[in-house]
Amino acid sequence: MAAQNLSQTTYCVVTYGCQMNKHDSERVCGLLEECGSDRVETIEEADIVVFMTCCVREAADIRLRGQVETMKNYPLREGSPLTKRVIAIGGCIGQRDGQSLIDDMPHVSVVFGTHNLNALPHLVMAAVADQSPQTEILEAGDSFWSDLPTVREHSWSAWLPITMGCNNFCTYCIVPYVRGREKSRPIEEIEAEAKKLVADGVKEITLLGQNVNSYGRDLYGKPRFADVLECVAASGVKYLRYATSHPKDLTDEVIKKFATLPNVAPALHLPAQSGSNRILKAMNRRYTRERYIDLVHKVRNACPDIALSTDIIVGFPGETEEDFQATYDLVKEVGYNQVFTFIYSKREGTPAAKIDDPTPHEVIQDRFDRLVDLVQEKAYERNQSDQDKVVEVLVEGLNKRNASQITGRTPKNQTIHASVPPSMDPSSLIGRICTVQVDVAKTWYLAGHLVGVGE
Ligand code: SAH
Ligand code: SF4
Ligand code: F3S
Repeated sequence: MAAQNLSQTTYCVVTYGCQMNKHDSERVCGLLEECGSDRVETIEEADIVVFMTCCVREAADIRLRGQVETMKNYPLREGSPLTKRVIAIGGCIGQRDGQSLIDDMPHVSVVFGTHNLNALPHLVMAAVADQSPQTEILEAGDSFWSDLPTVREHSWSAWLPITMGCNNFCTYCIVPYVRGREKSRPIEEIEAEAKKLVADGVKEITLLGQNVNSYGRDLYGKPRFADVLECVAASGVKYLRYATSHPKDLTDEVIKKFATLPNVAPALHLPAQSGSNRILKAMNRRYTRERYIDLVHKVRNACPDIALSTDIIVGFPGETEEDFQATYDLVKEVGYNQVFTFIYSKREGTPAAKIDDPTPHEVIQDRFDRLVDLVQEKAYERNQSDQDKVVEVLVEGLNKRNASQITGRTPKNQTIHASVPPSMDPSSLIGRICTVQVDVAKTWYLAGHLVGVGE
């Protein structure tokens, strides 16, 4: 095989973790396809398997190692131009563990990190040519890979990174150690990419950053996130989303923008993590429960029908029943549309990992279960407000349980299934914005029937 290209090879990318990783995976696909490799859906069919990994909780670590271990025994597909399958580990575990992954799992051929996605093709080619493992990890990065090719998962929807890294150092969190210091992307670049995406037919753009609200802090304070919202909204994209918003940095100016710019979707993910001031302090979140609730009121005053979602960690070291009750009460008071609940997972190298906690696992599990019950009850209540309404839907595919129906998401980011008239092919609606009459509102989805087909 020629050392310059990967033609006649097949590849597959397995992605764990957050949207940042999903977006990085789209770049990985773009890079490999540029070298001539063809995408396949399964690991078995792939000559090159790239794992884009996450280490935010221990479960993700364990899963990755388990999956890579089992690949020892997978034969290479018939007809492959390679003599050995290339297993590449990138993303946050690659960044954190580097060469030790190859020491532990000698059948791994390539390890790369979060700051050098662009190195993947040459590392793969070197591993093939030399028949020896390759590791390359950079300590810091400063590229948003604007010039790298991208294969988007959906033609109608795109991620648009606006910051990389994180400076917040929440005491439980590994992200700042594996993604580096926060860096804002120049607004001209963001604007140019948004325009290009819209010209390309993209209807939904999600701005990405670990904390989008602190955009611009490294750019001498101007422009800020509110300016980014305004300039991307001006691209004319139909739905503008963003993740994630840190409550300590959510300004009145930003709240005003998402209340007044018509294409900013009425959905806000505002991670609370805890409702106890003592725990919030120990987490280094730098806001109080009172300030958080005040923000929720401001947001709802500005945008009454906004869908709020959040992240909550249960069992942070030293959490008492009283602390947990404060979290429970916060979730009850706010009444979120969706809550992502996590049991605290100790991450070596973070400050919280040094705090001993004698609380038995059963106690934490019981708190977690009580919280999940409440979350479901509140999500159900929230969804009832859309019963019998006509809502817009960006159609993403067919309902997995009933292929005669379409599935998509509403501007509030609710999943919705809808039946279509028998004369219509539901697949022809994928990627389009339709209107649906909601007949049933459940806890985690809405169901209805198609009433209009738009752009
Ligand atoms: N930057 C984003 C997302 C960070 S990771 C933010 O600040 O919101 C996504 C979520 O994982 C966090 O919001 C947090 O709830 C959870 N998380 C992070 N570290 C964790 C840990 N050690 N144990 C359990 N959950 C954790
Ligand atoms: Fe982690 Fe906190 Fe940064 Fe989010 S803001 S990535 S939780 S350190
Ligand atoms: Fe996981 Fe890395 Fe994202 S640790 S949550 S993939 S930044």
